[in-house]
Amino acid sequence: MTLLADDLRMAFDRVAFARSVEVEPDDWQADLLRSGLDRILLNCCRQSGKSTTAALIALHRALYHPGSLVLILAPAERQAKETFGKVAQAYRKLGHSVAPDSYRKLGMRLANGSRIEALPGSEKTIRGFSGVDLLVLDEASRVDDGLYFAVRPMLAVSGGALIMLSTPAGRRGVFFEEWTGGAGWERYEVPAEECPRISEAFLEEERRSLPRRIFDQEYRCVFVETEDAIFSFEDVVGALDPGVTPLFGAPAEPEEKTG
Ligand SMILES: Nc1ncnc2c1ncn2[C@@H]1O[C@H](COP(=O)(O)OP(=O)(O)OP(=O)(O)O)[C@@H](O)[C@H]1O
Ligand SMILES: [Mg+2]
Repeated sequence: MTLLADDLRMAFDRVAFARSVEVEPDDWQADLLRSGLDRILLNCCRQSGKSTTAALIALHRALYHPGSLVLILAPAERQAKETFGKVAQAYRKLGHSVAPDSYRKLGMRLANGSRIEALPGSEKTIRGFSGVDLLVLDEASRVDDGLYFAVRPMLAVSGGALIMLSTPAGRRGVFFEEWTGGAGWERYEVPAEECPRISEAFLEEERRSLPRRIFDQEYRCVFVETEDAIFSFEDVVGALDPGVTPLFGAPAEPEEKTG
């Protein structure tokens, strides 16, 4: 096959793209790479390969859509660094070089004008970005709700895509809420049994060693009760009575000016 035909195939086939950087996708990764949808939630166990897949999608977007802005957000610098490192590693596998200061800045600009930036998520760091074509929220269950609400408008004008990936962390926060009740998402759930790199023997050892709730959270994609919660999520929801008026209700609407 000619180079041009190869390149064309990779532009339209992200599975072929993954293979070209020596990643043979697991079944769920292949399904995700083939998906054309632009609102994706990944509820996956630890080490299942969610950041790797998101990094490939980020790089693919930047390479094959000139002028794209791809933003990768994670709750902490270490995680942003790690996911950016996966993007850079794949880029190098394609034969490109990555400028050393890209690793310091956690950002790179491609020859086609696309940019990929990875940032530790706080509302302050992300203000100022707009026209984002792809937003990747890694470890989304640990990202502040405020950050999530601040980043969504960045997709407004560009019609950008949003991928949130995480292992659960309690029954609260936007990732939990979107996973359990949000509309318009394509959802992927990947427990450890579905990850070919996690052996049965290892899982069994973890099951014996970890408290049940931690094992369920880390390996079985379960949103377990938040540790410091006094009441269970179900009890609180069950206790809500729509017929009761709040003691301190919503502030009164300002009176409309007339005349
Ligand atoms: N399809 C694959 N084939 C081979 N190795 C893979 C594949 N997908 C991921 N890996 C490897 O598995 C390990 C975990 O991948 P990754 O960091 O993407 O997982 P993660 O779900 O983001 O983990 P964490 O929960 O720790 O953030 C890495 O070493 C990565 O290179
Ligand atoms: Mg990860």
